[in-house]
Amino acid sequence: MSQGAGLDWEAAWAPYDEETYAWVVERVRPGERVLDIGAGDLRLAIRLAERGALVVALERRADVLELGLEQLGDSRRRLRWGRPLSLLGGRLVVVLADAGDWPFPPVESAVLLMRHCSRFPHYVSKLRAAGCRRLFTNARWRLGVEEMNLLAGRPFDSVEIGWYACRCGAVGFREGEPGRIDATTLGRVHEVESCPACAAWPRSGLHTSGARM
Ligand SMILES: C[S@@+](CC[C@H](N)C(=O)[O-])C[C@H]1O[C@@H](n2cnc3c(N)ncnc32)[C@H](O)[C@@H]1O
Repeated sequence: MSQGAGLDWEAAWAPYDEETYAWVVERVRPGERVLDIGAGDLRLAIRLAERGALVVALERRADVLELGLEQLGDSRRRLRWGRPLSLLGGRLVVVLADAGDWPFPPVESAVLLMRHCSRFPHYVSKLRAAGCRRLFTNARWRLGVEEMNLLAGRPFDSVEIGWYACRCGAVGFREGEPGRIDATTLGRVHEVESCPACAAWPRSGLHTSGARM
């Protein structure tokens, strides 16, 4: 999807800093099923699998996946579009496919390290439909990585004042009476649904699971 000066940000492969990966790894439990969306060269997926998680790594660029496969002594020639490739004794399953239409498997957690992700609401909707409870992502606040609870969420209108972060990926500050702004207000983020920006995502699939952007 083109943005800005015609650059397709989502097609770009750009790994993040080591702290980001370490932050995610230490929060994942052995035996946990994790979907890594846009897994790049598998640098995080391999670490998660080595920690004992059962990882499905989804990536649409074969040239980038190849870098990870080489690390594992495997080769790109075994990759087939949409067909899962089992590695590391089944703890890592690599899938060359587009996350927009590849059906997500049932997982407990997911990773979406993809700033500039334009399909965020669609992925959140698919993850919730797959029973996923939490998402590690840097797509929402455009800054550091966060753990997003996919279960909790309150109606946007019930927030009287303060910071909010919505399922559609939008974040912001709901204004109110200035006298009510204090350290507590500023230090809390309300997880909400149905914020004003959701209206700008009419086909996001956020409220109608299965819809595509
Ligand atoms: C910024 S890179 C980050 C890679 C990896 N998450 C990491 O942290 O090293 C984003 C990756 O997502 C992949 N990607 C983007 N859109 C995708 C889609 N619709 N389906 C599968 N992969 C996608 C890109 O090819 C790219 O490798």
